[in-house]
Formats: sequence, C-alpha cells, structure tokens
Amino acid sequence: MSGSGRKASTQFVCGACAAIFPRWMGRCTSCNAWNTLVEEVAPKRSASAGPGGAARPGGPTAARPLAEIDGRDASMRIQTGIGELDRVLGGGAVLGGVTLVGGDPGVGKSTLLLQALAGLVRGGHRALYVSGEESAGQIAARARRLGCPEDGELLVLADGDLGSVERAIEETRPSAVVIDSVQTVRSADLESAAGTVAQLREVAARMVDRAKRERVAAFLVGHVTKDGALAGPKVLEHLVDTVLAFEGERGHAFRTLRAQKNRYGSATEVGVFEMSGEGLVEVKSPSALFLAERPAHAPGSVICATSEGTRPMLVEVQALVSAFSNGSGRRTANGVDGSRLALLLAVLDRKAGLAFGACDVFVNIAGGLRIDEPAVDLAVALSLASSLRDRAVPSDLVAFGEIGLAGEVRSVPRTAARLAEAAQMGFRRAIVPRSGRADAHGKAPLEVLPVRTLAEALELIG
Ligand code: TYD
Ligand code: MG
Repeated sequence: MSGSGRKASTQFVCGACAAIFPRWMGRCTSCNAWNTLVEEVAPKRSASAGPGGAARPGGPTAARPLAEIDGRDASMRIQTGIGELDRVLGGGAVLGGVTLVGGDPGVGKSTLLLQALAGLVRGGHRALYVSGEESAGQIAARARRLGCPEDGELLVLADGDLGSVERAIEETRPSAVVIDSVQTVRSADLESAAGTVAQLREVAARMVDRAKRERVAAFLVGHVTKDGALAGPKVLEHLVDTVLAFEGERGHAFRTLRAQKNRYGSATEVGVFEMSGEGLVEVKSPSALFLAERPAHAPGSVICATSEGTRPMLVEVQALVSAFSNGSGRRTANGVDGSRLALLLAVLDRKAGLAFGACDVFVNIAGGLRIDEPAVDLAVALSLASSLRDRAVPSDLVAFGEIGLAGEVRSVPRTAARLAEAAQMGFRRAIVPRSGRADAHGKAPLEVLPVRTLAEALELIG
C-alpha cells in the first residue's frame, strides 16, 4: 500500500483497541496487536462540533423526556409475506433497520432476498435490488423464474459503486433495499479493493446511516468463509441491527434461516425452507419433514422435541457407537456441538457407568439440521446409550432436557409447546425434566415421564 497520493480524508483504526493513526502500520503502537489496522474514512469536523462530532457545550440538547418519544416510530415493520422470514426477523422487516444475511455461496441468499423483495412489491411497496455480482439481465431472468410481479415496483441496479447505490436510494425512495453482496460493493473514498475489511466497514456503516435517515429496510448479503464466519471482522455484526445466518447441508434441499442477533426481535428464531425449481418454499411443518425418513426400531435413534425460538420442532438424533476402533476413539458430531458431545460422554461414563472408552462415536441430527439449544442433551445421551447397548428406544417416545455435570436433568423453556408438537405428530410418551411444580404436566396431551437424573431416564428406556 503506497502512502503517496492518498486523499487526506482517510485514517487507520485498530480493530482491537480502536486507536486511530494517520498511516498504516503492521503493528498497533497503542495495544501492540499485529495486522489490526484498517483504513476508514475520517469523520468530517464542522466548526460547531467538537471531537467526534459532539455538539458544542452550551448548545441545545437532543435529550427529550421519555413521554415525548414515540416508540412505535422506531419499529415500523413491513411484511415480506414469507412467513418463515418475517417470523425470524421478529414480525417483518423494520423500516430503518439493517439486516445482514450471511451464508455459503450457493446456499440461496440471492434467491431468498429476491423473493422477499417480490413479496414486499406484491404488498404495494417499492423495492430496490442492488447487485454487484450479476448483470441486470441475469437478475431479471431469475426474478421472472421466481414469479416476481412484472407490474410492481421492483427496481434493479447492477452496480458495485456505493455512491451510485446511495444515489439510487435517494432518487427512488424504496421501502426496502438489498445489497447483494456487501463484498462486491465499493466506496470510491477508500483506496482498498472491494471486499477488504476497510470497504466492508465503510459500506456497512454508510448503509446503516442511509437506512436510518431514509427509513429504508436494508438487507446486506454477506458471503461466509469456509469456517463459517462472516467474511470481514466481527465489527460488521456490531454495525447492523440484525444478523441472519442462512444455512444448508450440501446434498439436502432444505435450508434454515437463523437469527444470530436481533435488535428487533428474538435471536433464537429459526425459519425452515426447501429449495425447489421455483425458488425457496416455506416449510410450515418441519417436524414432518425431519421425521419422514426415520428408520423403524433402529438402535441409536431418539426423537427430540426442540424449540429454538418460539416454534417447536421434532428432530431425530442419531448415534452410532462402533466398538471396533483402532487406537483412541474418534468423536464426530454433526448438527450438535462437539464439546457438548464430549461432556455428555463424560457424564454417561461417570454418572451412569456407560463407558465409551476406545469406541468410535458418531452423533448426527438427521437431515443435516443444527441444534444449538441444550435441551437436545437428553436425546443425545439416550441415543448414545441406545446405540452402545444395541437396543432401540420405543418409537412412540420423545425426550428433551439439559444435562448438567452432576448427571442431573435440568428444565428447559416452553415445555407445553414441545409436548403439544409431539402429541400432534403422534407420539405418546415424553421423557422430560422433573419440574419443581408438582402439577406441571397435569393437562399434558401425552404421557409425561418426568426424570431428575440421566440415570432415571436410562432406566425408563431399559
Ligand atoms: P443463489 O440464491 O444464487 O445462492 P447465493 O446467492 O447464496 O450464492 O442460489 C444458488 C442455488 O440455488 C443455485 O445452485 C441454483 C439453486 N436454485 C434453485 O434450485 N431453484 C431456484 O429457483 C433458484 C433461483 C436457484
Ligand atoms: Mg448470490
């Protein structure tokens, strides 16, 4: 990077300690971290503003009494009409809010957001789709294939220049804008190439500013790196209001949309879609989808009633314990956390006398789903025991509960919703944490088997 000819309007900020420098250096002289300095546009200083743009002392204050502030104003929402997306957003997109949608290349981010804009247009809104990746012709062809209304106000801009994007927003005044992707849009104020950390920050910061000022619901598409992290620093996630992860396993048609951060709603909500020839289709009953291929009477298969977010969902936990290992046993976890699996194996060993020693252990959530909530612990532990003993658990049984280090089964939220979903799907028994309240399951729609410990649960499945 050459310093000559640089416009005076940029500075370098350390990503670790936020110290500001006029020039790039390999090491921050303030906190001594290496390679943390990132170029950014220096804030303009007007005569009336002090450092950082704060109002001059003695000037009028912007602070107002709570009673005078209209809270509804801050959360005006527009609905895309795609129920799974609106729910994950917290009830629709917030005008003035910025949502980052991250996912692997090819997972369907462009498809999802084009469909979302089409839904908004159908609802009478104007929407702007900006692509730095595809030509307007390609986007139009895809939009037609997805059934976007031809007569509505869906505007397309194939341009990677941030200034042009801002002008387009100003001139067309859409209710929603999609930037596809944040890595391919570039500000001419910075010398760095598109997709660099400096550009990502600048694009995101200016879009946040623009969205707030013009009351546009903005969506930024972000590609993720191989290890699943959003390309660019965490600071991108801090800049935006909502972060959604769009995920899918290779070879599976269904996709999950998960809130990772949401200033305007719950950050635990999960939406489920299936990729079809006509774009993404909502899966309104995921339990049926995830249980469709469950093998009958197979050891190692246990159904868990999960509830990530507000919607309960039944998933099949599969374990395979293979005694013929060469060397120290392998542990493979798909869809559940690997360190959680290690913990459960240790608890099974010490509290229930089930030793997995040198066995190879595989745990999988059928269908390629990922379950983050600890309520899946009990089903994972039971599936491991079932596979080790080579005895199937009853097929009309579901289980849920968090497992603690002492082997205790701890309560989890939304028990009633989980039980209702299990009953609805035809299950007749549920192993659940024993609640403090004696009559907690009095009106349960199926037989409830409360347990205090993992050992008690293991006795129930024999
Ligand atoms: P895309 O939305 O381009 O993914 P991303 O923007 O995350 O990179 O979708 C990519 C895949 O989806 C592509 O392999 C084709 C497939 N697809 C369908 O199966 N059906 C469709 O209707 C569309 C538009 C795409
Ligand atoms: Mg794309």
